[in-house]
Amino acid sequence: MIKKCLFPVAGYGTRFLPATKAMPKEILPVLDKPLVQYGVEEAMQAGLTDIAFVTGRGKRAIEDHFDVSYELEHQIQGTGKEKMLEGIREVINTCTFSYTRQIQMRGLGHAILTGRTVIGDEPFGVVLADDLCFGEGSGVLDQMVKLFKQFRCSIVAVEEVPEDETHKYGVIAGEALSDSLFRVTDMVEKPAPGDAPSNLAIIGRYILTPDIFEVLEHTAPGKNGEIQITDALLQQAQDGCVIAYKFKGQRFDCGSVQGYVEATNFCFQRYLAGEQQIGGQSGLAN
Ligand code: G1P
Repeated sequence: MIKKCLFPVAGYGTRFLPATKAMPKEILPVLDKPLVQYGVEEAMQAGLTDIAFVTGRGKRAIEDHFDVSYELEHQIQGTGKEKMLEGIREVINTCTFSYTRQIQMRGLGHAILTGRTVIGDEPFGVVLADDLCFGEGSGVLDQMVKLFKQFRCSIVAVEEVPEDETHKYGVIAGEALSDSLFRVTDMVEKPAPGDAPSNLAIIGRYILTPDIFEVLEHTAPGKNGEIQITDALLQQAQDGCVIAYKFKGQRFDCGSVQGYVEATNFCFQRYLAGEQQIGGQSGLAN
């Protein structure tokens, strides 16, 4: 039912300089796979196979990653290295990819609004690829798509964070519908310590209904002078309904060096347990 997934990837990745000086942060690998491929695979597993990127200057490596490299294919044809490309080949064969450019960096809300031209008038997922998620049972987006079938309104994924970290996130307040579901009553972008309405922080997974575009058109710049998706979602919550979902699984902030290292360690343990491959091979085989 939801087929499209938007990846805002125009951001500069300044938290990861100098690594991201000449390379998109989304191409940084965790083990042998770029962050953005993890995100696209999560979308694909949720049935969202129309992948749309809001891209920007210096991000062409992302387009090349989701395309065939004939020279490379020719070079490794018939060798054992072919299996290293099996995962990305499956992604390329299963999904379609569209790109539109964000000319000015005016915030996440603005990036999502820029994606309107490739999304159109249907509900869609949003993945921020530097939040690397490993769902329990199924992927985080898949969990959210199932909820969308029930609620039919925008859904944000949240997790509990320590009080001294709420200033890094959009933070919600809500009426609890169950242990893991909240009907959003308030939402604040990056509240100062002490101003946060709860410790439930929004992470980089959203399902949005298309009326969000109309709301974003009229959303004034907010925190840091940027057009914030958090502000537009609060409007949707006030006009109708927005659900916050405490997802089952784990998430790593790979936009920070610490989160990136933690994700790498986590994935290496998965590899050793035979749950993830390196070079097309399971760690159990060694
Ligand atoms: C964005 C959103 C914020 C959200 C976060 C999740 O912030 O504006 O509400 O909590 O993503 O990663 P950014 O990290 O782009 O500053």
